[in-house]
Amino acid sequence: MFPADELNVETEFAVDAQGVRKRFGAIEALRGLDLAIRAGEIYGLLGPNGSGKTTFIRCVAGLLRPEGGMLTVLGGAPSAAVSAGRVGYMTQAAALYGDLSVDENLRFFAALQGVAHADERIVEALRTVDLLDRQRSVVNTLSSGMRTRVSLAATLLHRPSLLLLDEPTVGVDPLLRQEFWAYFRKLAASGTTLLVSSHVMDEASRCDRLGLIRAGAVLAEGTANELVARAGTPDLESAFLALAEAR
Ligand SMILES: Nc1ncnc2c1ncn2[C@@H]1O[C@H](COP(=O)(O)OP(=O)(O)OP(=O)(O)O)[C@@H](O)[C@H]1O
Ligand SMILES: [Mg+2]
Repeated sequence: MFPADELNVETEFAVDAQGVRKRFGAIEALRGLDLAIRAGEIYGLLGPNGSGKTTFIRCVAGLLRPEGGMLTVLGGAPSAAVSAGRVGYMTQAAALYGDLSVDENLRFFAALQGVAHADERIVEALRTVDLLDRQRSVVNTLSSGMRTRVSLAATLLHRPSLLLLDEPTVGVDPLLRQEFWAYFRKLAASGTTLLVSSHVMDEASRCDRLGLIRAGAVLAEGTANELVARAGTPDLESAFLALAEAR
């Protein structure tokens, strides 16, 4: 593992993946995946079920080790970026303790991440997701969208420079989805890099750049407009299908 001070804070790419491979038994989940996420951008990872989005995010989060290729996170090894407290990860399924309060959950995550001034950070994170009035509520008594907001708050406690959000707006109503994207924009404006996975094409237009992934490989990468122009289709959904077929 690299020591934290070997991480290059000024790196151009927050995530640089070249030919990343990951296999689960007979299943090749990542088959030479290439993509590069610029520091400070919102990067959308778009692809159908089983295309490898979560697997890739787990590699970036240092939870899975690729068998091949090169993967650099914030200028160093994924594990170095994670242990330096620079990476936040919101998993696809909410990982909260339902019988504990919002405050108790956030306190637990703050302790895990070694967050200093936890009281203030919890208030700040809850304010960001507009849930300060529910700090004492038991998680099981919250609506499902509220729980998603608490999960997001939990990933913000240690002020990560790279935020990994695995389908963060699934089950979230259109109003809240709008609010979420407003938070994401606010975070990006303050210098945070965001990797957001989705299979909802309408979210794609909100990302600075996109990687279209299928069967563990990137079909195409660029802004939504660039991808539509490259495919010569009227919209992104048909661009995705055209690019998948061309491959
Ligand atoms: N721990 C695991 N053990 C075995 N196979 C796995 C494991 N994790 C993922 N896979 C397989 O890897 C492939 C990619 O799965 P992954 O979860 O990365 O897809 P995804 O793009 O996130 O899909 P979704 O949109 O449904 O969340 C699938 O075929 C899946 O069955
Ligand atoms: Mg997934």
